[in-house]
Amino acid sequence: KHHVGILISGRGSNMAALVEASRSSDCPYEVVLVASDKPAAPGLAWAADNGIATFAKSPKGMAKAEYEAAIDAALREARVQTIALAGYMRLLSDAFVARWRGRIVNIHPSLLPKYKGLDTHARAIAAGDTKAGASVHIVTEELDGGAVLGQAEVQIHRDDTPETLAARVLEEEHRLYPKVLAEFVTR
Ligand code: GAR
Repeated sequence: KHHVGILISGRGSNMAALVEASRSSDCPYEVVLVASDKPAAPGLAWAADNGIATFAKSPKGMAKAEYEAAIDAALREARVQTIALAGYMRLLSDAFVARWRGRIVNIHPSLLPKYKGLDTHARAIAAGDTKAGASVHIVTEELDGGAVLGQAEVQIHRDDTPETLAARVLEEEHRLYPKVLAEFVTR
């Protein structure tokens, strides 16, 4: 199977969805490493409890290049072929992106190219949009700017708050990401 490494910063619900999908015998990828820049990320504990190798390292007090070299070494040690970002809230350097060119994917909670960056659901509601969603895309040097591989849409309800909308989108993320990743690694 194709070796996937997942980078997370927090809850890790998309990571868990990817791991759960990978357990099906016809899934073309396996998750060989879950790494986090936040050693206390709840998702890391979930991964360890579920038998996945984990790597935790805070970037505090390190130069970005040094920090990314440590992550890169852990990914290579695990023979990772594709990196899936799943709520990884740190920007990867141009050098790191170049080193893994075309082999990093991300899930972003908006219908890209709309609402790159943060607070996507609040911005969609404030704009009066009637639909929102999530996108899986290739990571390039441009924030949330690489080619879109797949999207899922939800309706925005009149009484939605950013939180209620986020919850509705998140359910779709958990369906979308495993499907798109499986397609991506067998492309
Ligand atoms: C997800 O909604 C993901 O799309 C978003 O963070 C959440 C992580 O949740 N990602 C970004 O905002 C990336 N800039 P999770 O940790 O439960 O998967």
